[in-house]
Amino acid sequence: MAIDKKYLDFFHKVAVKAAYASYHLVGKKDKIAADKAAVDAMRNELNKIDMNGQIVIGEGELDEAPMLYIGEKLGNGNGPKLDIAVDPLEGTNFAANNLPGALSVIAVAEKSKLFNAPETYMDKIAISENKKGIVDLDNSVKKNIMNLADYKNTTPENLTACILDRPRHKKHIDELKALNVKLKLITDGDVSGALLVTNDNHNVDIFLGIGGGPEGVLAASALDAFGCFFQGKFIFETDNDKIRAKKMGIEDFDRKYELNEIVSGDSIFCATGITSGDLVQGIKIDKNCFTSETLITHKSFGIKKIYRSTNTI
Ligand code: FBP
Repeated sequence: MAIDKKYLDFFHKVAVKAAYASYHLVGKKDKIAADKAAVDAMRNELNKIDMNGQIVIGEGELDEAPMLYIGEKLGNGNGPKLDIAVDPLEGTNFAANNLPGALSVIAVAEKSKLFNAPETYMDKIAISENKKGIVDLDNSVKKNIMNLADYKNTTPENLTACILDRPRHKKHIDELKALNVKLKLITDGDVSGALLVTNDNHNVDIFLGIGGGPEGVLAASALDAFGCFFQGKFIFETDNDKIRAKKMGIEDFDRKYELNEIVSGDSIFCATGITSGDLVQGIKIDKNCFTSETLITHKSFGIKKIYRSTNTI
């Protein structure tokens, strides 16, 4: 069943308010304060909405309040049951250091249609072509690149791969270099990194590598609306990770999830810029107004666009 269109406005407002709250802490070298400002604003706005909402992807678990924790119930209790994934401040380093790419992100789906995941790492792969068999997490980097180049009728040196610049990715990065693929090495912010495959203007053909699991689920909900391909595999390193995963109903710790197993049915995604980045512009203040840019998607209504809004302060 489709989520009523009015909810897109509601969740857009949630992301904008969180971004604006965090914007005041940009460049203050305090990522905790910048995050808290976004969390508080997000919770405040979410509680005004006519819904029975529940956080399935959040910033911590039950014992870690006051973050928006997994299991937290939100909304005024009147309205549809919705599953909510949040990253009130995606790119805490970007905000603290006044660097491009900080976002406030929220994704919402019908009840039980969004993956309920603990905060662990996830191995991810995304391309714009929604076709199975071109790339796969089980393939080598070389096979994925050769397949993608074949599919696009081009050669690897004309492809660009986006990946987090981390020591754990040395092997992937070396393989991509050996294939002469152009690298887009991001220092943080892999929700945005994954979403660069959605639009040719970003010149990114493939996103891959290990980043946050919550960020993977958030990106997946937008990629679903864009009709892209995505796979994710959670990485449960410690016994504690496995215990938490089990509590959430995850039995097979090595399972690779297809996009439709992470998000299905209708969904809404909003990512508002705090500082300007590849995806959207950041908050801009002008006298008694501020403008914001948000990448929004609403799957059932085929909405996928950058929405710019002006708000009075
Ligand atoms: P924060 O906003 O929580 O700082 O996360 C930023 C981020 O770069 C994510 O986009 C990414 O998924 C994750 O951190 C990667 O984690 P790590 O820095 O441990 O490699």
